[in-house]
Amino acid sequence: MNYDDILTLAKQYAVPIVRTKSHSILENLIKKNNPKCILEIGTAIGYSGIIMLKSSSAKLVTIEHNKNYVKLAKSNFKKFKVNKRVKILFGDCHVKIAEMVADNKYKDYFDFIFLDGPKAQYSLLLENLIYLLKPNSTLVVDNVLFRGYTTNEQIAPTKRFKTIIKRLNDFIDMCKNHKELYDIKLIDTEDGILYAKKISK
Ligand SMILES: C[S@@+](CC[C@H](N)C(=O)[O-])C[C@H]1O[C@@H](n2cnc3c(N)ncnc32)[C@H](O)[C@@H]1O
Repeated sequence: MNYDDILTLAKQYAVPIVRTKSHSILENLIKKNNPKCILEIGTAIGYSGIIMLKSSSAKLVTIEHNKNYVKLAKSNFKKFKVNKRVKILFGDCHVKIAEMVADNKYKDYFDFIFLDGPKAQYSLLLENLIYLLKPNSTLVVDNVLFRGYTTNEQIAPTKRFKTIIKRLNDFIDMCKNHKELYDIKLIDTEDGILYAKKISK
């Protein structure tokens, strides 16, 4: 199995996964940061998880609430021989993240977090994700520019889109103004990627 096989599978099941340029950016960020323990929100069928595992020796905890995706992801992780380094948490990310926060063990635990889950709810997750992120480590968020609409709200076609865009813009502002984040970068490619680092204590 190779990446093209997963892309075909994603098309077949209409699963949204990181696109070509985001694939390269994510791969480069992982190589540059060399994390040991990654948290991902939004496993889908395992594509971005495999990219991160194949470009590092890290372990991955990844959260997904779609049962069918979890099944496919498990099979894909196995086919790429990275399954021993992955723990899939099946369920709602708000619940799973709150459980980790409640468990003292996970404070400052992950040295790379990739947020690629429910777009309209990123702001609700931010505080807890920062709690779980190790100081000086990296937060990467996909789709923050939401097909270019985030920078041009007026052209959003539906009310639902407008809501997502407003919430994504609020999320970007929250990150820019957060006292525990620095080095915020908005990478204007495809759907847009936000990059941030957590301050050292
Ligand atoms: C853009 S896809 C993730 C793509 C994946 N990271 C990749 O590039 O291969 C977003 C995923 O988040 C999952 N998701 C959405 N809301 C969620 C929630 N509340 N809890 C857990 N997973 C959720 C969706 O089922 C979907 O698989």
